[in-house]
Amino acid sequence: MLQIIFAGLALAVSLVAAELPVRTVYQFASNDTWLENIATRSNGLILATEIGPPASLLQFDPTQKDPQPTTIMTFDTVLGLSGIAEGAHDVFYVTGANTTADNIEDPPTNATHVWQVDFNSLDHNGKPKITLICRPEAPTGFNGMAAYNETIILATATYQDAIFAIDVTTGYTWEAMKQDTMTQINGIKFQDGYVYWAASGDFVRAPVYEDITAGTGEIIASFSAIDDFAIAPVGYRTKKTHSADRKYAYAATAGYNSILQISWNGNNATGFDNKTAIIAGSEYSTEIAEPTGGFFGRGPGQWNKLYVTTGGGSGEAVDVDGVETAVGAQLLEIQLD
Ligand SMILES: *[C@@H]1O[C@H](CO)[C@@H](O)[C@H](O)[C@H]1NC(C)=O
Ligand SMILES: *[C@@H]1O[C@H](CO)[C@@H](O)[C@H](O)[C@H]1NC(C)=O
Ligand SMILES: *[C@@H]1O[C@H](CO)[C@@H](O)[C@H](O)[C@H]1NC(C)=O
Ligand SMILES: *[C@@H]1O[C@H](CO)[C@@H](O)[C@H](O)[C@H]1NC(C)=O
Ligand SMILES: *[C@@H]1O[C@H](CO)[C@@H](O)[C@H](O)[C@H]1NC(C)=O
Ligand SMILES: *[C@@H]1O[C@H](CO)[C@@H](O)[C@H](O)[C@H]1NC(C)=O
Repeated sequence: MLQIIFAGLALAVSLVAAELPVRTVYQFASNDTWLENIATRSNGLILATEIGPPASLLQFDPTQKDPQPTTIMTFDTVLGLSGIAEGAHDVFYVTGANTTADNIEDPPTNATHVWQVDFNSLDHNGKPKITLICRPEAPTGFNGMAAYNETIILATATYQDAIFAIDVTTGYTWEAMKQDTMTQINGIKFQDGYVYWAASGDFVRAPVYEDITAGTGEIIASFSAIDDFAIAPVGYRTKKTHSADRKYAYAATAGYNSILQISWNGNNATGFDNKTAIIAGSEYSTEIAEPTGGFFGRGPGQWNKLYVTTGGGSGEAVDVDGVETAVGAQLLEIQLD
């Protein structure tokens, strides 16, 4: 019932607000491909993880006219990669397990891996140094990841409804946060002392303390579905409507095939003064086919660009004029100016 009400709302919003053009940076030829998450490097190159097999970490240069992926690494001890986060300058963490489009309802356990990918340490082929950090048995898999600081990475465990913490210096991994608002937890980011997460369509925040516990989660906004998301580093459309108090997030709406802008005032004593709008894509279109995550550009001229990965409909096909349609997984660019 709730789902039906929300679906109507989603349609109403998307009819009025979808506006921004979408550039396809890259699209796979085959419709059984799935990009799951994304992070940009400080030099503007884009890293994207692939739910495979193959479980590949890919890199793209979005300044090229027709960029092709470079395979940084294919991890053959897992079937798919998911979360990615930068812990220190050009030091990324990626996670993978054996969850795929075929088994996502009930994936194999004890396949979770976390690796460090260090671009400060390149081999003679220009490949980063890759180190296995841990193989925790408790999480069925990690979904999103976010850095708390240079040594602690937070990771969502969708099947455990919890956030785990990983000490990357030791590999020690523990269930750090578990609350009612974490049912089927998905995307995660950490910014300004708060952990933000998406779970069952709720976009939630909680303060994080030094012992890596969290305060009670507060729901900022809700939508039919939210996967991973980007929080704007300096406000919406960066220069235009920025105010110190107002924050903007851009959420991948998974099977709703669109990007949801969520804005709120984090310092308003009487509420978040939340606002939401679909800013690109629409439910019955493959323009943004099953978006999975987003990240802001970081290279010159990329500060207003949102990069989005999609599953192409591998998990949930797109209904196009009544035909269940999957397309190749996409890397997309949305200009927020
Ligand atoms: C999990 O996998 C590891 C590495 O393959 C193995 O040593 C361990 O026994 C497994 N644990 C369980 C509970 O199956
Ligand atoms: C995960 O997949 C890899 C690659 O196929 C395989 O070697 C490994 O045994 C699998 N692990 C589990 C726990 O299923
Ligand atoms: C990261 O946070 C943990 C927990 O508060 C702390 O023990 C650790 O020293 C911090 N690491 C860095 C590099 O600041
Ligand atoms: C905004 O917040 C109010 C108060 O918590 C809530 O009732 C409403 O559903 C929220 N709106 C959205 C779009 O999430
Ligand atoms: C605080 O939130 C309330 C309720 O959403 C809203 O009416 C009010 O304008 C907000 N105040 C500021 C300063 O944003
Ligand atoms: C995926 O591509 C194959 C081969 O082109 C096609 O037969 C199939 O219908 C496509 N699946 C979907 C769901 O679009």
